Amino acid sequence: MVKIAPSILSADFARLGSEIRAVQKAGADFIHVDVMDGIFVPNISIGVPVVQSVRRITELVLDVHLMIDRPGRYIEAFAKAGADILVFHLEADTPEGIQDAIDRTKALGKRVGLALKPATPAEALFPLLPQLDMALVMTVEPGFGGQTFMSDQMDKLQKLRQEIDRLRLDCLLEVDGGVSPETAPLCVRAGADVLVAGSAVFGSADSAQVIKALRGKEMK
Ligand code: DX5
Ligand code: ZN
Repeated sequence: MVKIAPSILSADFARLGSEIRAVQKAGADFIHVDVMDGIFVPNISIGVPVVQSVRRITELVLDVHLMIDRPGRYIEAFAKAGADILVFHLEADTPEGIQDAIDRTKALGKRVGLALKPATPAEALFPLLPQLDMALVMTVEPGFGGQTFMSDQMDKLQKLRQEIDRLRLDCLLEVDGGVSPETAPLCVRAGADVLVAGSAVFGSADSAQVIKALRGKEMK
């Protein structure tokens, strides 16, 4: 069954604890934390102290999406704060910098993922896939919640699915951006294992129903 990762970017930060407890109760599998630095993306969100606080209140897997320039600089800090999976962008550093960040994430005993912006082709990730625990396909330009899903990214998703299967890798395929009960079936059909959903989950009064609907079960 597809895993659901609510993105707390769309939560009410003044009530973050209860918002997280609510989606946990509603059946979330991961908690997706969007970290933005105002440089790699044109927005600033949250950082290490928030991950630390969230870690104290949930046992769910913390899927930390680093939309920051040269992410290697912050790997230790986020690992110590309690992240379980550190996902950073292939576009955020030189190939050497990315390789170093992968190595250091693994040395810290954490799972590692790489994310692709919409303009980056699937093939750019192929050489690195065998080292990864997760590959993330962005279906919006990273930076903001609540944007429109880019269905033209489904080819990329399918190509990554095929390569992961061809090499028989233990690598999850995650989709992030504009995922809703309407667009989730496209992602699942193209081979996604994990769906990130921010506004769809936190914008609803009934997150349990939305999570079910994202999994492809009937919405009441
Ligand atoms: C966008 C973030 C996403 C975002 C998803 O830059 O990486 O995780 O919060 O929000 P929705 O589901 O509203 O598109
Ligand atoms: Zn994200």
